[in-house]
Amino acid sequence: MSAPTSFPIGATVTIDQLADDPYPIFHRLRATEPVTWAPAIGQWMVTSRDLVMEVLRDTMRFRTDDPRSPIRETFGPQMLSTEGAPQRRYKSACAPPFNAKAADALTPLVNDVVAAHVGALPASGADLRSTYAAPVAVATVARVLGLDPAGDGLLREWYDTFADALINYAGDPETRTRAEAAVLAFRASLQPILRAPDVASSALLHTLARAHPRLLDDEEIAANALIVLFGGIETTEASIANTLWAILSHPSALGVGHLDADAVDRCVEETFRWEPAVQTCSRYAPQAVMLGGVPIPAGAIVQCMLGAANRDPAHYRAPDSWNPARADPTPHLAFGFGRHFCLGAALARVEARTALLALFRRHPHCRLDPERPSRPHGHEFRKPPRLDVLWA
Ligand code: HEM
Repeated sequence: MSAPTSFPIGATVTIDQLADDPYPIFHRLRATEPVTWAPAIGQWMVTSRDLVMEVLRDTMRFRTDDPRSPIRETFGPQMLSTEGAPQRRYKSACAPPFNAKAADALTPLVNDVVAAHVGALPASGADLRSTYAAPVAVATVARVLGLDPAGDGLLREWYDTFADALINYAGDPETRTRAEAAVLAFRASLQPILRAPDVASSALLHTLARAHPRLLDDEEIAANALIVLFGGIETTEASIANTLWAILSHPSALGVGHLDADAVDRCVEETFRWEPAVQTCSRYAPQAVMLGGVPIPAGAIVQCMLGAANRDPAHYRAPDSWNPARADPTPHLAFGFGRHFCLGAALARVEARTALLALFRRHPHCRLDPERPSRPHGHEFRKPPRLDVLWA
């Protein structure tokens, strides 16, 4: 596939710029090249909300089930790298704990996880990304799946190995081998659950193992558990950290101790729009296709830039402002759109609300550490590398 040359702004895009502050270049692209070729990533980028939705809606022309998909290569076929009947079967089998009502019912579980971690924070302050947002995200998804708390540390190690493999664009064989070993170890760790299906537990893995007749076989359970795990860790960690950072970098006179659940929900929702943790959904075009008047060649990889869509001025007033009171009715696309809309969106909202409220109640004088400034960074997952906060 030869690289097109008629995209002058796309030609200037760099990965550093996308990781550091992508929003100025997103505005420039959206205004004149909403579908562009970015040589720096060797892929197409889409930046207008309407066109992002057009791609994500059309699972015939823009697909996830391409053999080049690193998610498919690492985890095997599961709901985020299949289309049509198999995707619907995987997703509906895994859906029960994740609809809005079920996720609300998980609030006590999330409360327990959060209480254990908020109580363990140091006396004067902490890096809240690594000591709070990250372990809360791992423990919650692990409990929802039905995995033993003793394995949370190992789960994080496996997660980091998978994450490296999913951005292994250079095809480094060692990275691939490490990820394969982590997938095998994860599958082996599921054996006790799959072999003893009659355990009385409502956790997802136990429910799937016990179903009679089975909705998914062992391979399918493992692959879909992997995508639930992968989908639920860094995303939630980043969203909690990004919302904390947004709130603390826009201090109000009343302080965080006065934020109630409604106010926290509005801050969480606005941060999903303003600094989405997942910046892009990748799609593969098996056939040549026109998008926004631009011919896209067969075999193209198209990146739907969610952070760009969420700041599209055609849909959001003053899109660069963080404004939890905004009255715009337009939903954000932080959880994607269409058939692959995030399975865990309702749970992610419960986690963020619970984690923030518990922290602000425990530490009402919580504030950013002026000596160690930080802000979100990253072109695929976006979050502050550290979030140093004081409360003493
Ligand atoms: C705030 C946190 C989260 C964000 C920002 C987020 C974002 C997303 C996005 C953008 C997609 C669409 C991917 C695509 O279309 O290419 C997605 C899909 C998915 N997410 Fe999330 N996610 C979050 C939390 C979670 C949680 C907590 C779970 C599970 C416990 C989860 C599980 C999944 C799964 C399984 C999919 C694939 C759904 C499908 O292919 O049908 N996510 N997520």
